Amino acid sequence: MAVLIKNGIVVTAENEFKADVSIEGERIAAIGENLRASEGDEIIDAAGKYILPGGVDQHVHFSFTYKGSKVRGFETSNAAAVGGTTTLIEFVNQEKGKGLIETIEDYRKTDADGIAMVDYSFHSVMTDPREEVIEEIPKLAEAGYPTMKLFMAYKGMFFHADDDAILKALYKGKEAGVTIMVHAENAEMIDVATKRLIAEGKTGPYYHAISRPPVVEAEATRRAIYLAEMADAPLYVVHVTCKEALAEIRAAYNRGQKIFGETCAHYLVLDTEDLAKPNFEGAKYVCSPALRTEEHREALWEAVDRKWLNAISSDHCGFDFAEQKHMGFGEGNSFADIPNGAPSLQNRLNILWTYGVCEGKISRSRLVDLFATSPAKINGLDKKGQLAAGFDADIVIFDPDYEGTISVANNLEGVDYCPFEGFAQKGRPETVFLRGQKIVDDAKYIGHKGQGKLIAGKPYGSAYQW
Ligand code: URP
Ligand code: ZN
Ligand code: ZN
Repeated sequence: MAVLIKNGIVVTAENEFKADVSIEGERIAAIGENLRASEGDEIIDAAGKYILPGGVDQHVHFSFTYKGSKVRGFETSNAAAVGGTTTLIEFVNQEKGKGLIETIEDYRKTDADGIAMVDYSFHSVMTDPREEVIEEIPKLAEAGYPTMKLFMAYKGMFFHADDDAILKALYKGKEAGVTIMVHAENAEMIDVATKRLIAEGKTGPYYHAISRPPVVEAEATRRAIYLAEMADAPLYVVHVTCKEALAEIRAAYNRGQKIFGETCAHYLVLDTEDLAKPNFEGAKYVCSPALRTEEHREALWEAVDRKWLNAISSDHCGFDFAEQKHMGFGEGNSFADIPNGAPSLQNRLNILWTYGVCEGKISRSRLVDLFATSPAKINGLDKKGQLAAGFDADIVIFDPDYEGTISVANNLEGVDYCPFEGFAQKGRPETVFLRGQKIVDDAKYIGHKGQGKLIAGKPYGSAYQW
């Protein structure tokens, strides 16, 4: 049986138009006017609704650990589905003593396959830059994992990477079209500032932001750009949050370097002052880089609108507030002990629509590009992120008339809080298809565990092809 979605407004990264969409098996069969159904087909009337491609969230943590605390995993990936995201790409930190691919494969078999409720892929994170590991980087491309990240931040943690590792990764990645990504913050600057603050008794969550101001991000962004220039390799900067880092990326791009970047939903709507909330609630907003002020948010909205940044991810990290409090509160503890990260898997589209499209900051087409099309291209997912015949039938029927309030009460992330609690929400994903199968109906998840499948990325993603 096929599915015919009639009378909706199809939104692509380029334009929008009224059309029908037909699905056969796992793929989009046709998009056009007055498409005909065959007997037995399911027909959905989408009049008054927008038809969007299923989202591609290229920045998710389902296995991240911070000082012994571990995030929620793929068993909560139905939260992505109800948020209109049908493909997730998770960062897998290389385990000491193991290879890059071996780490991903071992983790995938036990923690993703048979569990994931949307499609998935992985980025490698190099933590152990031995010579043989550097030599393995080109093999990531053959294995279907053509992207690798290095953490410039987090001094003293096993996943911190120095310039030596980044430069070697850039040279090696280029040999096989592996896109190198960086978390750009200067670890030494943060470390010195953190120790000074703690010595002064400034230990609460708010000081997390004071310990890592924009200059920390700008310095590392610039340094990574110079490393990429030396290797003559493309570079992708994850979670860009401030105007200073944006300026570095723009300047490099204008010099002719292949430098690209993303931001995340929470950096577009949350504020440094959230870290000052009473009763230690500021801990809910401890993420790295830190939340910024209005002027930076305005710069980020302009950057995503003008294509100076080309994706908006979640950087989803599912730590409980109870755990954040346990780790960071009390005698001898500080903001530096609070597990970093924001649970935001479910609300990426809701935030972008309500605070981006409805407030006139981005067009619907721009949203589609940032939410689905560009992240698919960056990661070499050539059947994802677009509404066109032959692409995977990952489709969101979006109801623009819904009005509600974002709350942990309607959240499937499995975390005890939502950083967007109480935010007004306009519109919602009403029906979602994953490769032709309906997994969300009337805004409720109706799919099943293990329905997601591993998607291999192709090398030489869009950072190589500008
Ligand atoms: O605070 C964050 N972003 N936590 C997740 C790990 C990372 O740095 O991306
Ligand atoms: Zn990061
Ligand atoms: Zn992250």
